[in-house]
Amino acid sequence: MDRGRGFMRIIKAEDYDHMSKIAADFIGAEIMLKPDAVLGLATGSTPVGTYKYLSEMVKAGEISFKEVRTFNLDEYEGLTASDPCSYAFYMKEKLFEHIDILPENTHIPSGTASDGEKECAGYDAMIDECGGIDLQLLGLGHNGHIGFNEPGNSFITKTHRVELTESTLSANRHFFHKEEDIPGAAYTLGMGGIFCSKRILLLVFGKEKAEILYEAFHGPVTPLVPSSLLQLHRDVVLVADKAALALFD
Ligand code: F6R
Repeated sequence: MDRGRGFMRIIKAEDYDHMSKIAADFIGAEIMLKPDAVLGLATGSTPVGTYKYLSEMVKAGEISFKEVRTFNLDEYEGLTASDPCSYAFYMKEKLFEHIDILPENTHIPSGTASDGEKECAGYDAMIDECGGIDLQLLGLGHNGHIGFNEPGNSFITKTHRVELTESTLSANRHFFHKEEDIPGAAYTLGMGGIFCSKRILLLVFGKEKAEILYEAFHGPVTPLVPSSLLQLHRDVVLVADKAALALFD
């Protein structure tokens, strides 16, 4: 294990599967130590393996999600939970239906709320009521986003509606049948919500992300690379494979 800048720890994994195992063990340890932990969860390609290992740990009786509460980072605008492309559907399919979590303890921003602003404010309030997020799992976007906090002129702190950038739309294209099916907007936990998490576990794999990962942790802290804000967080653990860490010493 190498020491990164500030309080960041870097764990170098051999490959995607190794990264997933390390991440699942890390999350599993958090649950063993705090059975009613509040977890912040991500979707996308990155955590699929982690969720598979966590499901296996539950089946083997090593951990239980019975008291765990979860808050997902984001959801596409306009997609209902029954839409196979929604993040709500993804979470059910990849994790929730394989573990013993209580459905009422899982939270995902609604993509179809009639009053989006109210929904966002309510989401932040629910996290506060639970005492904040203990462990936030993150993936890294090709443009440096975390959650759907896209590059811009300022860090938006609260849960909000966001227009997705071209980079994000093309990166997520493979999850949809047709180009025109990809929603152009989403709801995302803000940078404040992510930053207030007690601990952050960032997972990154693949050589395509090597440059943006390097920039996020060795470049300036700037809203143009939203993940660069993690440089200021007190407790970040980065688990990345060799390919993603290629530019690190
Ligand atoms: C997903 C999310 C995004 C992804 C990021 C990486 O809930 O918030 O920030 O983590 O776009 O996506 P993948 O893992 O598909 O490369």
